[in-house]
Amino acid sequence: MIFGRIKSLDAILATAEKKSLTRSLGAFQLTMLGIGAVIGTGIFVLTAEAAQKAGPGMMISFIIAGFVCAFAALCYSEMSSMVPVSGSAYTYSYAVMGELIAWIVGWALILEYAIAAGAVSVGWSGYVVGLIQHAFGINIPHMLVRGPYDGGLINLPAMLIAGLVTWLLVIGTKESAMVNAVLVAIKITALTLFIVLALPAMNMEQFTPFAPLGFGGISAAAASIFFAYVGFDAVSTAAEETKNPQRNMPIGLIGSLTVCTVFYILVATGVVGTVGAQPVSGPGGQVLAPGSIELANQCAAIKDAAVVCSKEALAWTMREIGWKQIGNLIGLAAGLALPSVILMMMFGQTRIFFVMSRDGLLPAVLSKVHPRFHTPHVITIITGLFVALFAAFFPVGLLADISNSGTLFAFAAVSIAVMVLRRTDPDRHRPFRTPAVMVTAPIAILGCAYLFYNLGMPTKLMFVGWAVVGLIVYFSYSRHRSHVGRGLVEVHEIDSDAPPQPVPPIV
Ligand code: ALA
Repeated sequence: MIFGRIKSLDAILATAEKKSLTRSLGAFQLTMLGIGAVIGTGIFVLTAEAAQKAGPGMMISFIIAGFVCAFAALCYSEMSSMVPVSGSAYTYSYAVMGELIAWIVGWALILEYAIAAGAVSVGWSGYVVGLIQHAFGINIPHMLVRGPYDGGLINLPAMLIAGLVTWLLVIGTKESAMVNAVLVAIKITALTLFIVLALPAMNMEQFTPFAPLGFGGISAAAASIFFAYVGFDAVSTAAEETKNPQRNMPIGLIGSLTVCTVFYILVATGVVGTVGAQPVSGPGGQVLAPGSIELANQCAAIKDAAVVCSKEALAWTMREIGWKQIGNLIGLAAGLALPSVILMMMFGQTRIFFVMSRDGLLPAVLSKVHPRFHTPHVITIITGLFVALFAAFFPVGLLADISNSGTLFAFAAVSIAVMVLRRTDPDRHRPFRTPAVMVTAPIAILGCAYLFYNLGMPTKLMFVGWAVVGLIVYFSYSRHRSHVGRGLVEVHEIDSDAPPQPVPPIV
């Protein structure tokens, strides 16, 4: 039966109780944590993809995606404050909806994190290659810096950064609170500079036609631009370390989402108003799909003279309106700040694999911990190899969309789990309660379903294919080896063998 094999919440919590983290985070620190995890490839790179899908109407897409995230975030926080252990959505689902659903959620989270790390690596590559070209006059052939769908052969810089981040994770690099604060400052400064210089240079004619592809285009762009908000769950997972979580968690979550949404809308307005954001059409007048070889060819034909052709949309816009050095500075900011987003994504991935392996659902070798570095090196290296391969051969938009499909699925599952648990276990202590859960959770679920529905068909097919592979693995391997299935109830001595938090609290 589908909901069988529930992992006891008490056993999960017994693990968590043994770690006693001090409650030191306030609303401001949580907001910083959120902004650090969230701002990345989405705004710096995918703005171009969104323009191709929606035209100037992409400004609305940013609002829609932010809105869905806010509701999902409120549900996520209740779970993460109640079940504050490694494995996030996977663990919550195990406790509430049983092993099979947990497996599917864990399997979807692999899409979320590993593919997202690939997407951000490709985004990083676009900016760094542009910077090298414009600051030092060195042109690297497209063949070596773009994947096959983008008119190249292999994206070597993207592979390189994925490899570097893997190495940092293997040797146990933790991003210090100070580094996070500096990177947040760099990102915010770069975006502020962009806004301050772009807004006065706007030409209102660029806003018409506002939605050349109708509301369908705006929805499709919202489904892609959702990626720009992914990472806010970093705030939820800090619930245990938060002072007065009932007050501070929603402020931290909604605060960081609001700050990001405001920046995103202003940046999108700046792009639209200065260089225009009309989609590029093919020779026959048809609008071309983002990330397609046809679009790459058309961009080559028009000598990349449109923001949708750029791999470094914000730097390109600055250079177009005459701020060449500022364009380079924005490239530098992206080059410095994006690796930390890759680090968090890959870290999240290793943590999910680690917990799934510890539960017996994946081979035990994956949760092996390095004797000297105390990191799960085996799974980190395997993850790194896959991330490097995705980054080498696939375009950023497709990777982001696939990652979104996994994330949306996991968020919907968590939102369901919150409602289920309110019924099945109403008296359990909830350090944070989702406000008006019977309204908030259904809105979150519908919002996720709406965005998922608006992802491209190849993405949805890929998601279904991935789920089928997951089910085959589950029924042929994991089901027989599951510790819960074999009746082993384990309470791990403190979670010390779990990988550490990527960003420790800023105190
Ligand atoms: N939200 C993160 C980004 O935009 C994943 O890169």
